[in-house]
Amino acid sequence: MPMNQISRRGWLQTGALLAGAPCACLAQASNDCCTVPEAPVDGVQIQPGLITIHLDRTPDLSRTGGAVKIVDAARKLHVIVARSGKRQFVALDQKCTHGGGALTYVHSHQHLYCTCWGHAKFALDGSVLRWPNTQTPRPLRAHTVERKGNLLEIRVEGLA
Ligand code: FES
Repeated sequence: MPMNQISRRGWLQTGALLAGAPCACLAQASNDCCTVPEAPVDGVQIQPGLITIHLDRTPDLSRTGGAVKIVDAARKLHVIVARSGKRQFVALDQKCTHGGGALTYVHSHQHLYCTCWGHAKFALDGSVLRWPNTQTPRPLRAHTVERKGNLLEIRVEGLA
């Protein structure tokens, strides 16, 4: 096929990307993008207002720079937990406040990055670093994290 022609599939993919529907994280080809694994089921307990993570059952948090997501659709829970330093952990909502896109943790820049079209960025305290349009930026909810030995306790306000 000549270079100046575009296949039907390519045309449809381009159209879908421009519509902003799918993840458009192709520009950032690193392991940081779109690859936050879900925490192992046996490593997490969820109860009203509290998430408990068993670090000995969650290998992705055993190294600095690791992260997991905790998703419970029935509870409308989407949280990302990252080991941002040797002894520091952070927990924030995993849905972008702009349009609900999935956020991923970028350890090299110490921020959360939206994998959707607008590419909003949030600092680890939830403040907005980059916002895609003229709407008033909305910070991300950051949750209190406390380590107790091999357990991480994350307080999530409003968690049923
Ligand atoms: S959903 Fe629009 S920038 Fe994240």
